[in-house]
Amino acid sequence: MDFERILEVRQSTRKFSDRKPDRETVEKILEAGRKAPTAKNIQPVRIFVAESDEAIAVIDNASPCRYKAPTVLIVGVDTNEIFKNGEHSTAEIDGSIVATHLLLAATNYGVDSIWIEMFDRDILKSGLNLPDNILPVCLIPIGYRAEDCPVSRNFHNRKPIDDTVKYL
Ligand SMILES: Cc1cc2nc3c(=O)[nH]c(=O)nc-3n(C[C@H](O)[C@H](O)[C@H](O)COP(=O)(O)O)c2cc1C
Repeated sequence: MDFERILEVRQSTRKFSDRKPDRETVEKILEAGRKAPTAKNIQPVRIFVAESDEAIAVIDNASPCRYKAPTVLIVGVDTNEIFKNGEHSTAEIDGSIVATHLLLAATNYGVDSIWIEMFDRDILKSGLNLPDNILPVCLIPIGYRAEDCPVSRNFHNRKPIDDTVKYL
């Protein structure tokens, strides 16, 4: 898909159908995450693909925001590998860049998605036996919009460019 078209059509999906993205498509989305830049190219981001009934049950325990997506990408960072600039770490920045690649790639391959912050990290980590050194950054439920999925409430609702950009 043309990049401008990706930006035009991407929106948050809050009602998914049962249809699961096939493995090949998921792998293409993950490959776009692999190509993302990270601080010093350390690549501390780890992605867990939740698709089994057991893993999905844990996600539902940790978050009200799966919206029935059949697959959830858990974007985490290995805190043993993160870049630190003094007190400041780029852990969540690296994770967020990868997550953004995943969202845009999903759109490119016709897969709907949403970024989720609202989840309990402790419940997620203990339920999935994630190692202590994994810091979960976000969940990305992926799949296909249900037929009656409403348009995202903020679709194309953005501040005027002059409110957010200043030429100096
Ligand atoms: C960092 C971040 C956290 C978000 N967390 C949630 C969330 O927990 N639950 C939810 O329903 N949407 C969540 N969203 C989706 C935003 O509400 C959505 O992207 C925004 O309203 C713009 O709408 P659009 O994605 O349709 O353009 C999150 C988005 C971002 C970027």
